[in-house]
Amino acid sequence: MKSIISKINNELKKIFSEHGFDENHAFISISNRPELADYQINSCFNIAKALKKNPVEVATEMAGFVRDLKVEGINAFTKCEACPPGFVNLKLNDELLFLSVEEVLNDDKLGIDGKEILPSDAPKCILLDYGGANVAKPLHVGHLRVAVIGEALKRLYNRLGIKTIGDVHLGDFGLQMGLVIEQLKDDNMLDSFTISDLEIIYPKASLRAKGDKNNGIESDTEFDARAHEATKKLQNDVEPETSIWKKILKISIDDLKIRYGELNVFFDYYYGESTVKDIMGPMVDEMIKKRIAYESEGAYVIDVKEDTDKKEMPPCIVRKSDGAVLYATSDIATIKFREENFDADEYVYIVDKRQNLHLTQCFRASKKAGLLKRDKIFHHVEVGTMNGSDGRALKSRDGGVFKLETLIKDAKDKALNQLKANERDLKGLDENDIAKKIGIAALKYGDLSNSPTRDYIFDLEKFLSFQGNTGPYILYTLVRIKSIFEKLGVNKVDTKLNTDCDEIVHKIFLKSIKYGDILFDAYKNYDTSIICKYIYELSDDFNSFYHEHSIINETDENKKALYIVVCNIVDKIVRDALSILAIEIPDKM
Ligand code: ARG
Repeated sequence: MKSIISKINNELKKIFSEHGFDENHAFISISNRPELADYQINSCFNIAKALKKNPVEVATEMAGFVRDLKVEGINAFTKCEACPPGFVNLKLNDELLFLSVEEVLNDDKLGIDGKEILPSDAPKCILLDYGGANVAKPLHVGHLRVAVIGEALKRLYNRLGIKTIGDVHLGDFGLQMGLVIEQLKDDNMLDSFTISDLEIIYPKASLRAKGDKNNGIESDTEFDARAHEATKKLQNDVEPETSIWKKILKISIDDLKIRYGELNVFFDYYYGESTVKDIMGPMVDEMIKKRIAYESEGAYVIDVKEDTDKKEMPPCIVRKSDGAVLYATSDIATIKFREENFDADEYVYIVDKRQNLHLTQCFRASKKAGLLKRDKIFHHVEVGTMNGSDGRALKSRDGGVFKLETLIKDAKDKALNQLKANERDLKGLDENDIAKKIGIAALKYGDLSNSPTRDYIFDLEKFLSFQGNTGPYILYTLVRIKSIFEKLGVNKVDTKLNTDCDEIVHKIFLKSIKYGDILFDAYKNYDTSIICKYIYELSDDFNSFYHEHSIINETDENKKALYIVVCNIVDKIVRDALSILAIEIPDKM
């Protein structure tokens, strides 16, 4: 389905050239003063300049013929006025608006077809690197954002017809593994340990190795050395370290799948740093042979600086002087692995912004080393931090890292208390399940409604509020519509409309037919908060409409049919958007 804007622009081109105007200037834009107009033509200034005329004069002449523009035989505008200093303001005819609304409602995909929306050179397949959990360490709040935003971007791409490959890229090969292995040995737990054991063991082992000066805990250097040794052993397939590591990996991944599943986050692959363990060595050898990597103070590095760099760009170290590989080596080898095993046109990494230097170095090094089959886009969505009310990174009550599990539990508990306090009538429904959906929606939406790159203040009370740009507010709008439909007994919506629409209905319809543009905007900017802002405004308009109209008691059948269409289109769009954001909707709340 072609958007109404592109249909109008097509006709505008014709009418422009009939009147001797350059058709390259024939396009309308959404008005930035919605109280004055739906759309506007902004090109009078450029045209006037070329013709050495006054922009108002040009606008007046233009309005004179645009007034008669027709789309599918219908007069497109009910208002077409020149306005100083040189715009043409336009108001869309309701009849045409109804046709577009009808098209949206009668199409499973709500009239949105990626092939029409995306430019012809848009990627056909995108690989997303998101999640980034570390094996044997509990998921902390920092892992919430990258998982939630990554999942939403992935679904957005799918919605636009782009294939995706989602890889969690586990941190499963570093020193934390050696620490856990040695501690398990010391505690005689090799034969049986669970995920809960691992969650206690890692912090214990880490504290033991590092010590804590502030609290007078000395570091256990012998243990630290053993942990390093164990890490090296498992990286070289030595037993029993390798078998222990595999067991830890299995237990952790099983648990991660549950945790991510709770958030509606699903990965195609649970690959990790260890996936490329055998690739790294020969890859670096080859880089040295080709003189892409060179020796510097005993280590091997690749220059990745470019002339246009404004920030410092140190060389990328791929092998340490003791022969060990680094985080960068595994990321570069991962790119090699992905190029060999998948055919993505673009790579999108949804990773904490503090890793930007590291990722930029890796992207450049892999291009320089010729690891890419063809030129490709690498994009780092530089994810901002979630801060506590003091503006600093969120810490748990005892000052340690904030576990994601605690956060989810808090959100569910608080949502349940709210439901109880408000004495909602949830006849026979599972209160816990509803509270869980609301709590998780609040968390996820709180996160997604902030632009990914922004740091934001985590405020659970605010996220859980039924007012404002929050998850519960959006869910409540849908629950309200559902209940209207139930009260009216509507099964099928008649989309043929036979009445005028008032201002708020016109506004809602106009916004509804813009959904495709919103998805494109979110795609282009790697920013799912654009979708949140849009559904919030749509829900807000809907709720104004709801308060201004008596839908259930309306006696005029034509008006009632119109109101049902309003409910229906808002419902369909918001549900579609929430499925992109991977947020579940309760039946009641
Ligand atoms: N495991 C890493 C961390 O917790 C994040 C991984 C991000 N992805 C990547 N390809 N480096 O910091």
